[in-house]
Amino acid sequence: MNLPFAESYKIKMVEPIRKSQRKEREQWIKEAKYNLFNLKSEYVFIDLLTDSGTGAMSDKQWSELMLGDESYAGASSYYKMKNAIKKILGFEYFLPTHQGRAAENVLFSVLVKEGDIVPGNSHFDTTKGHIEFRKAKAVDCTIDEAFDTTLIHPFKGNIDLNKLEDVLKKYPAEKIPFIIVTITCNSSGGQPVSMQNLKEVSALAKKYNKLVVVDSARFAENAYFIKKREKAYKNKTIKEIVLEMFSYTDIMTMSSKKDAIVNMGGFIGMRDHDLFNKASVFNIMFEGFITYGGMSGRDMNALAQGLDEGTEFDYLETRVEQVAYLGKKCLEYGIPVLEPAGGHAIFVDAKRFLPQLPKEQFVAQTLGVELYIEGGVRGVEIGALLADRDPITRENRFPELELLRLAIPRRVYTNNHMDYIAASLANVYERRNDIKKGLKILVEAPIMRHFTIEMDRI
Ligand code: F0G
Repeated sequence: MNLPFAESYKIKMVEPIRKSQRKEREQWIKEAKYNLFNLKSEYVFIDLLTDSGTGAMSDKQWSELMLGDESYAGASSYYKMKNAIKKILGFEYFLPTHQGRAAENVLFSVLVKEGDIVPGNSHFDTTKGHIEFRKAKAVDCTIDEAFDTTLIHPFKGNIDLNKLEDVLKKYPAEKIPFIIVTITCNSSGGQPVSMQNLKEVSALAKKYNKLVVVDSARFAENAYFIKKREKAYKNKTIKEIVLEMFSYTDIMTMSSKKDAIVNMGGFIGMRDHDLFNKASVFNIMFEGFITYGGMSGRDMNALAQGLDEGTEFDYLETRVEQVAYLGKKCLEYGIPVLEPAGGHAIFVDAKRFLPQLPKEQFVAQTLGVELYIEGGVRGVEIGALLADRDPITRENRFPELELLRLAIPRRVYTNNHMDYIAASLANVYERRNDIKKGLKILVEAPIMRHFTIEMDRI
């Protein structure tokens, strides 16, 4: 008999969580103005709002905290992080930042100016935000397959090379500072980018003399998919694959709160000394001196250890297969989810779940509210609220995909929790025809409105 799948760790410390009553949840979500970000975490039983900074550190990471060097300049923790980045990711120069969007802010302060065009596979919202804030434009060159949630394709995160080349041809060279590839591609469902695609993007970038930036938050999960799905990499280690992936790129921005399994932190990896010097000025201004950049020494230590653990096959198998397990359970109940399962999350296709609701009633947010009321499970909307308004016309943008993301924190929940989540969703699915109305916006911020939005039932 083949031995069943089992987690590659055991549990040393636990944190109690509490189930609440449906009546309580109805009241709490009303008070939260139907914004899941406004809920107190103690009102949530299983929290799938994000996999960012919500992971469980290992015993080795916790012990690294005790060894942190809190010197302002030249701390040993900085060198620990520097060595890990060089060894595991292959970047000569780096700047620590307090999280991923801070890395974007520092890097884009050097590279992006008003009127620029930044093509990529599908920009994450903070990336798009930092581009649009500079009055530049983010252009998604997503492959068409990514928009069909039922289509099985091994690398739905790939950049469409024809769309990319069209952009490169259309605009004057000085308007395009770089191409950005997000691995895995969060906005298209945690879907991976193939090594082949990375190679081809790199070749195209060379042809047009462009830099390639990778938004690397979930690079290790991407490497796991390459090992599993791209034949030539079957026998390579994750660490070998990671080094090769980054070899096709010039710069990386990192939110370490994902695949480096820490609660806070980020960095920029670079090969060019001149860029490093320019970015250092902004790092000092926005983040802190170049050897800490907004991070404590202890956190840099835990990050260095996390990079090593996060690029081990056994850990990644436990992680990605747990997400796939939840996806499989949902499909067994007939729930429409994006296929194949992403690396960090299951994305419920809200348009197929609630086809009776018009898009103007924020379908995925409505589904998120219903799931919370049903089981105390908190997901997040990846749809029209997140897509926000066009920066020029201020009209609502309605993206092709209207998704409820259930992001799984790393090493936090067991498969019993996955069963509970799937059952909660199945209960909502069973009563889906009773959900006749969605939500309307009461108050919204000028940019990144989803975090603070206030809504009401229609
Ligand atoms: N890039 C990607 C692909 C991300 O998913 C995120 C964050 C960032 C950049 C920004 O990093 O949060 O450290 O500033 N994603 C989180 C999420 C918030 O829930 O998907 P950050």
